[in-house]
Amino acid sequence: MPMIRECIVTTVGPTGQHHIAPLGLIEQDEFWVIAPFRPSTTLTNLEAAPFATASFIDDVRIFAGCVCGKSDWPMEAVPGWSAPRLSAALTHAELEVARNEGDPQRPRFFCKIRKIVSHKPFLGLNRAQAAVVEAAILATRLGMIPREKIDTELAYLRIAIDKTAGAAEREAWELVTAKIETYLRTQPE
Ligand SMILES: Cc1cc2nc3c(=O)[nH]c(=O)nc-3n(C[C@H](O)[C@H](O)[C@H](O)COP(=O)(O)O)c2cc1C
Repeated sequence: MPMIRECIVTTVGPTGQHHIAPLGLIEQDEFWVIAPFRPSTTLTNLEAAPFATASFIDDVRIFAGCVCGKSDWPMEAVPGWSAPRLSAALTHAELEVARNEGDPQRPRFFCKIRKIVSHKPFLGLNRAQAAVVEAAILATRLGMIPREKIDTELAYLRIAIDKTAGAAEREAWELVTAKIETYLRTQPE
């Protein structure tokens, strides 16, 4: 299996407005592959305007917020490049689609890395941040995962939150687990 980097991808829509989405960049040879499941605004945008910016972040409130419908995060223009980056980006990468492979479910956009620019120091891995990312992914797949598995995964992830979270991680965890709990409450047992 290839290495996947979780990030926030910015694309640009037909009227010039930007769109952000948490996505995994799949490393394949010299390419980073963006693989959005249909339907997806990222996909529609990439078909029309074949470039993107990846923002690599350690503020996991943005992953949690995006999967809960909050997308108005502060952005910064990228000089000489149309897709802005998150202001919170520690590093951003400018990506140009070199080719795409169509697929009825999950097309793949093979991107060349045009430039990687760092803005803030990366201060180490944190287990609670990883746990929030896992919970955020879970929150986008609720209809596909059995209830017991959701409960088991959340219980396990919560250990890292209890042991290693700071205020931002706790806030992100509360947000994303509230969404999951609301979903579970509305499902028949
Ligand atoms: C960390 C993380 C990684 C994700 N990676 C993918 C991905 O590789 N492909 C995908 O289709 N959705 C992925 N998702 C779910 C998308 O963010 C979500 O479906 C989003 O709404 C994409 O649709 P959009 O392009 O219409 O915004 C991921 C979510 C999270 C939290």
